[in-house]
Amino acid sequence: MTRPDKHRPESLAFGTRAVHAGNAIDGGSGAIRTPIVMANSYALPQDPASISWSDVDTPLYTRNSGANQKGLQAKLAALEGGEDAVVLASGVAAIHAVIFGYLRSGDHVVVADVTYEATWRLYTELLPDRYGIEATFVDASDVEAVRAAMRPTTRLVHVEAIANPTTKVTDVAAVAQVAHDGGALLVVDSTFTPPPLYRPLADGADLVIHSLTKYVNGHGDAMGGAVIGTTALVRPLKADAQVDVGGVISPFNAWLIQRGSVTLPLRLRQHLASAQRVAEFLDADPRVAYVAYPGLPSHPQHEVATRQFGGRGYGAMIAFAVDGDPDTQNRFVAALRVITSAVSLGHDESLIVHVGADGPRVATYPEEFRRWGHLRLSIGLEDVEDLLADLGAALDEVLGQLGG
Ligand SMILES: Cc1ncc(COP(=O)(O)O)c(C=O)c1O
Repeated sequence: MTRPDKHRPESLAFGTRAVHAGNAIDGGSGAIRTPIVMANSYALPQDPASISWSDVDTPLYTRNSGANQKGLQAKLAALEGGEDAVVLASGVAAIHAVIFGYLRSGDHVVVADVTYEATWRLYTELLPDRYGIEATFVDASDVEAVRAAMRPTTRLVHVEAIANPTTKVTDVAAVAQVAHDGGALLVVDSTFTPPPLYRPLADGADLVIHSLTKYVNGHGDAMGGAVIGTTALVRPLKADAQVDVGGVISPFNAWLIQRGSVTLPLRLRQHLASAQRVAEFLDADPRVAYVAYPGLPSHPQHEVATRQFGGRGYGAMIAFAVDGDPDTQNRFVAALRVITSAVSLGHDESLIVHVGADGPRVATYPEEFRRWGHLRLSIGLEDVEDLLADLGAALDEVLGQLGG
């Protein structure tokens, strides 16, 4: 058995990695936690002529690198099983970093038909119109549809392991094979499925994206994004997206996210267990029109999800609608007393948002999403009994008591 050593993250089990990876004794103060280094610039050597202004290793300028970015990068690489990571100002900055780093005009991309809003807008509007990058949108749960969409010019395949917002699941290993057969890179946005729930690199993904704003930070108080993969693929993104495009994260946010990530495995356990309970509770209630959650046997990719996530869980995002028109959905949300109506997800508090059925993005959603709209519910860390009681009371108030 390898002896665990906190200086060698690869020797550590996941929870121990989450505590120790990326942390170091501070050389100046001797503090055993990396302090927040809120300095823009670093002392130059007497002769700075040989320094490259795009260097990402030398302490130079915070847009090049800094102690807090570096610590968080090392930690995320260790948690995802990658060689390197770049951390940036937001999840969208991370998505953009991959696009900017790996696509040229004339290139083609295969994109899952259900993705986070900004990904969808980048690939439907901004990239084709401004840069001549063409995207084909496919049902990424259908591996043969992905294969059929590949072209000789396809450079990237972009999917979400569990897609925002419909919870569609992609079989990452199968799609990785298709992407690699076509000479393309597979990019997996794994924001809904942070480690240790899932590590897409182990299934053949080339680059993993996280909105650190969500589960990795976990406390709803700092934005960040990351791209993780091999050194060869990630290092160029540091110079391009961070130094030259400027999507740098603030040292304070990097520090907050690193602190938050210490409890990721503990928090995730609670998120996953509560989400399963809430999904089953909603699913059993006749006043609920539908529930989309990969942990329910009725979910179209339930079996793929069980295999892919190794039985550890199915994420903590639930999409559902109560039986009624958009006004009923709004009244239901307004009747909640514990769950907060706000965007974002993966926070300590449960969040719900009513997303209407209008707009072009909705066209590829399942029929029930188009009929009822949907409520996107992010299960937080409250006692699950309080969440169930809150949902039950709001259902009673807006849709009437069961059997009443
Ligand atoms: C799947 C997914 N990717 C990326 C993002 C963007 O992250 P950020 O808000 O940190 O830019 C989000 C935000 O909700 C998301 O849900």
